[in-house]
Amino acid sequence: MFTEKIELKDLDKMDAEYRDLLGRVLTIQADCEIGGPHLYVETMLPAAPSKLDQLIVARTAAEEIDHFRKVARVAGDMGVDVSFVLSQPNEKRFVDSFRGLITTWEGHAVFGFLIDRVGRYQLEEFYDCSYLPLQRILPDAVTCRCSGFCRTLSPRNWAISNTVTTKR
Ligand SMILES: [Fe+2]
Repeated sequence: MFTEKIELKDLDKMDAEYRDLLGRVLTIQADCEIGGPHLYVETMLPAAPSKLDQLIVARTAAEEIDHFRKVARVAGDMGVDVSFVLSQPNEKRFVDSFRGLITTWEGHAVFGFLIDRVGRYQLEEFYDCSYLPLQRILPDAVTCRCSGFCRTLSPRNWAISNTVTTKR
């Protein structure tokens, strides 16, 4: 089993296969991070059933874009440009779940509850990964900020909801 820890400065010493695989993993992760907002922002931001729900959609999208930015930086530092995924059509996304368009609030809730959760588990697989620059961005990208249903049910959002409700 490979147990070494690799910094950016050590990357040139690694096999081409390692560098290629790492670049592919980062590219797919960047695509998944930006793929979420591309699925629902255009349709769900104006269609969210309340001002609070609109705020949650906007915040979730902002967090995903920030995750994209962090992954893109790790990739860019090793010479892999992932900027093309910013404007990639949904049908060309690497992962099937991001190839459609979410057009209903219920669909948005299911996406948040299931797909975002799977994304979290996928990132948790990298916690003890060999590439330390990737490992270092994980705490920000893994924090449970599932969109939709899961988010609406979280105590943090009950607190936000109560704050918003009392300010109306
Ligand atoms: Fe994310």
